[in-house]
Amino acid sequence: MTRFSSATKNLRSSEIRDLMSLATKPGIISFAGGMPGNDLFPIKEIDTIYNTLTVAEKQVAMQYGPTNGLPALLESLGEFLDQKGLPVSENRLLITTGSLQAINILAKAFIDRNDTIIVENPTFIGALSAFKSYQADVISVPVGNDGMSIEHLEKAIHGAPKDPKFLYITPSFHNPAGILYSAEAKNNLITFMTGKEIPIIEDDAYSELFFHPEDADRLKPIKAINPKGIDVCYTGSFSKIIGPGLRLGWMLVPQHIYEKCELIKQSFDACSPTFSQVLADKFLRTGAIYPYLDFIRTEYALRANAMFDALESHLPQYVEWVRPRGGFYIWLQLPEGADAAAILKIAIEKGAVFVTGKTFDPEGKKNNCMRISYCNTSPEMIRIGIPIIAEAIRNICG
Ligand SMILES: Cc1ncc(COP(=O)(O)O)c(C=O)c1O
Repeated sequence: MTRFSSATKNLRSSEIRDLMSLATKPGIISFAGGMPGNDLFPIKEIDTIYNTLTVAEKQVAMQYGPTNGLPALLESLGEFLDQKGLPVSENRLLITTGSLQAINILAKAFIDRNDTIIVENPTFIGALSAFKSYQADVISVPVGNDGMSIEHLEKAIHGAPKDPKFLYITPSFHNPAGILYSAEAKNNLITFMTGKEIPIIEDDAYSELFFHPEDADRLKPIKAINPKGIDVCYTGSFSKIIGPGLRLGWMLVPQHIYEKCELIKQSFDACSPTFSQVLADKFLRTGAIYPYLDFIRTEYALRANAMFDALESHLPQYVEWVRPRGGFYIWLQLPEGADAAAILKIAIEKGAVFVTGKTFDPEGKKNNCMRISYCNTSPEMIRIGIPIIAEAIRNICG
């Protein structure tokens, strides 16, 4: 008999994933994905960058590179993050193969079997799967519209069977909740966590995708506030601001954590794709990223606005949701007892698909929530697809 590791016991395909396999029929309108719009990628800019590389640069691009990242990219990304107010010079930057790898590396660095870790509820499914694959005992704390409740966090820490190894949060344009922590919620969290010897993993895959420039203060990462007395491990990604096909992310972490992470990365993949790093470096270095960011912010805001209008016109009053201020996602909360999986089944039959909230619930219980995304759907398709979802909700919830 094949004898698998105990870690694989926690890995299973969800019922939703099985349902989603029905959602591949042609013409289905998808509000399920978390991927950028295909039509929005900076194809021309990347063509120009590649076509103007020297032969020597192309050779570098084809070769293995240093584990921590290509020196040119470490420099240009370091400047980009510095401009965001992040304390680059006091920390170490590690380029990773997507930010999901950064999260995996941190999970491996901190988690022993049955260790307690704390996450938000709901939380990003990719991170949750990574933590479970290291056999963490995951405790979740609810997030509201402005951030995490300190009262619940305190209860979770005190009630935990072991001192938690870390707290994982996504303060900017949460996946799936769509929310942005308020400055006050971040400050309260910092005050509470100071001196607790529990590192914070701050996942920041979306903060560049804001719709309201006046949110600048609220968008400041906890890492940029640079609290003393807390090890903040900041992760970021090129996936939503250039393209996930590059498979490039990063972590910015204190030196002592970096040392372990670099060693772990060596055994994962030796280095992240050098080819992608050369392209990403030029995209930053030439400044092409800035007009591109303006372009995608405008496009995602258009899609989001089309979705807000459609939801306001078609959703029953009892569905609760807040307008996200950026990012990709809207979180719909249905009345207690509603069955989002039944709604999904009907929606798929009628031609639209979303993701049920249970997928993002570490306890796997929440049946009455759903995530819909506007990132990869045109305003026209949004206007056709949202009434289908609204109708499916009415069919089940009345
Ligand atoms: C919150 C969050 N973190 C991290 C990631 C991982 O992104 P990547 O590995 O492509 O950088 C995603 C992807 O959707 C995400 O939503």
